[in-house]
Amino acid sequence: MFWSLLIIISLCTLIWFCLKWLKLRMYWAERGVKHLPVYPFLGSLTFLMRYNPAIWMRNVYERFDSPYVGMWVFFRPAVIINDPEMARNILIKDAAVFKDRFLSSGPSDPIGHLNLFSVKDPLWSFLRRRLTAVFTAAKLRGVFRIMQQKSKELVQRIGIEMKKNQRVNLRMMFTDFTTDVIAASAFGVACDATLTGESPLRSVTKEIMEFSVFRGLSWVSIFFYPELVDIFGFTSLPKSVTEYFKKIFRMIVAERGGYDVEIKENRDLFDALIKLKQDCLKENKDISEDTLVAQAMVFLQGGFDTTGSIFAYCVYELAFHPEIQNKLYQELIEAEEKVGHADFDMNSLTELKYLDCVINETLRKYQPMGWLDRMTSKDYKLDDRLTISAGTPVYINVIGIHYDPKFYPEPERFNPDRFLLTNEKNTCITTFVPFGEGPRSCIGRRFAMMNLRNALATIFLAYEARALPNTPKPSEAKIETRNLFLTPGEPLLVEFVPRL
Ligand code: HEM
Ligand SMILES: *[C@@H]1O[C@H](CO)[C@@H](O)[C@H](O)[C@H]1NC(C)=O
Repeated sequence: MFWSLLIIISLCTLIWFCLKWLKLRMYWAERGVKHLPVYPFLGSLTFLMRYNPAIWMRNVYERFDSPYVGMWVFFRPAVIINDPEMARNILIKDAAVFKDRFLSSGPSDPIGHLNLFSVKDPLWSFLRRRLTAVFTAAKLRGVFRIMQQKSKELVQRIGIEMKKNQRVNLRMMFTDFTTDVIAASAFGVACDATLTGESPLRSVTKEIMEFSVFRGLSWVSIFFYPELVDIFGFTSLPKSVTEYFKKIFRMIVAERGGYDVEIKENRDLFDALIKLKQDCLKENKDISEDTLVAQAMVFLQGGFDTTGSIFAYCVYELAFHPEIQNKLYQELIEAEEKVGHADFDMNSLTELKYLDCVINETLRKYQPMGWLDRMTSKDYKLDDRLTISAGTPVYINVIGIHYDPKFYPEPERFNPDRFLLTNEKNTCITTFVPFGEGPRSCIGRRFAMMNLRNALATIFLAYEARALPNTPKPSEAKIETRNLFLTPGEPLLVEFVPRL
């Protein structure tokens, strides 16, 4: 009796699952939408741990001649957007419906859950408004002095490394540098990683760059299956890292006199965070320490590796393209004469048109995020044929758009000149979206651009970068397969020769 009951229940469950699965498999076909294949468990995410998702996204773009493509993230239907006009509607025009990202962590991971990048509205709107104050044009001028000083140290660092090893590991050096710049400008902490390769905050960012299977699973869960985060106790960063970072956080707050000293100046991120706490207390609302720590962490995390990778790829490409490097050098020495061999200020840097093209071309080819993540809060009409239901994840295929020969002829070629030509086909602003667009776009965009402009100008005035024998061409260099972001999968090594 017991056994037959058990068998009947098991059979019913099995049939129920099969029917569910059969229905789920037909989800996009029923709606007449071109779609990727679906497999049990992974859904369409067959790239996990095998390719970098950016490569996979490009592949989807090239395979489907369609403005959008249906897919499944595990068991959930989702849409990839290949069309810049449609992307513009989602990112800008209808941004009110797309305030949230689909990715999310859980209460077991407060630092990953509450930060600006992953937090959901309305807390997001509140935090974003407050943190935008950290990046005004006036603040950037103060920060710029730090960038100048650090880029001089970078020139020294290159000299030291060349003497020691006759070559430079670009990503390592530039992540030392970007960590320092964020530490000094957002945290008000002077660090020495650019010169020595080590500092307290650098040990945090080094730890962030380490891979482990648990970390890999955690990130996949956060990005594509947030419900599992709490069940398995996933965390975006190892506990030891967040604990250590919290200690640094508390030390910085204590050095400024704690939460009781009134903030008058609002100089940097920490002033903004302390003030946030004070204003909340005044209104009898509380804001947890974890919420504040999460913002500090996301500025570090969001800023050091993205910018570091772009730096590395940019110098690597220029080492393989001496003609482009020379053209840039010509622009730099002319500009240097104009400012009477003094340091560049922010305005003279912004006027360097070719430098801007070189940076944009690097951002086009190596956009670190690959895609932009959004989620609808209401049913949303994509076009006359398809309305997606509330909660559907939407992925804007940025890297696919950046490699579309319609917008960028010979997309594999590193060709900064393409940004000089005004191409009528690229009238839609969303054909180039390295920092995203709309209200949820990158908060550090101007900061990152200024840092890139200044450090690249300083380096290339002092040195010529040359490709080393037996190193892969830029387009053949491995891309990290275990990372969801597009970063180098092997050391990018070059040689620097001083300019006379
Ligand atoms: C080359 C450097 C960088 C690139 C390419 C980059 C790219 C991006 C992209 C594509 C997004 C998502 C935008 C969207 O969904 O529309 C983003 C968001 C973000 N970035 Fe950056 N980023 C860079 C540097 C930085 C820096 C230096 C910081 C901090 C100082 C930073 C902090 C953030 C934060 C906090 C968000 C989340 C914003 C929000 O959701 O409100 N990023 N970034
Ligand atoms: C580079 O891209 C930015 C957008 O991120 C744009 O505003 C700027 O005009 C571009 N520069 C050139 C030279 O095309």
